[in-house]
Amino acid sequence: MRVKMDKVKIIAEADLARINAIVTEYSQQKWALIPLLQKIQSDFGYIPPQSIPIIARTLGLFPSQVQGVISFYTQLYTQPRGRKVVRVCRGTACHVRGGKTILKLVKRHLGIEEGETTPDMEYTLETVACIGVCALAPNIVVGDRVYGHMNPKKVEQLFKNTGG
Ligand code: FES
Repeated sequence: MRVKMDKVKIIAEADLARINAIVTEYSQQKWALIPLLQKIQSDFGYIPPQSIPIIARTLGLFPSQVQGVISFYTQLYTQPRGRKVVRVCRGTACHVRGGKTILKLVKRHLGIEEGETTPDMEYTLETVACIGVCALAPNIVVGDRVYGHMNPKKVEQLFKNTGG
């Protein structure tokens, strides 16, 4: 059985030094908040929560303002994410064709809940409202690839080298 990740990853002193160096490049430029957040995410794969007060102080903002911007943009993350993001559709068409069971099976195979990442950093599991290919329901997306007409056997095939 897999162990859930800690909510906040502890980052090393060297990482904090890197964050400080990146933030310094953007100092006193309030307009630079989004490019700065994108730069940190691109370097670390996510925005370490420990960087929020540093960013706020350097740009002359409140930490709540920085957090507010991160929360607003769904493509910004404060948790590490897996190399592949698995999105299970929970839209109506997928739901009525067994999407709930597919989600349950994916969770079981990966050993994680929605919003979590496997300890080997391979997969992050999310759900989405609709991915726009309802005719293929039930659907899941792994990385950039859509897998339609999902059933228990296909889920097993897809994640056969993973988890339970
Ligand atoms: S409801 Fe799942 S793709 Fe539209």
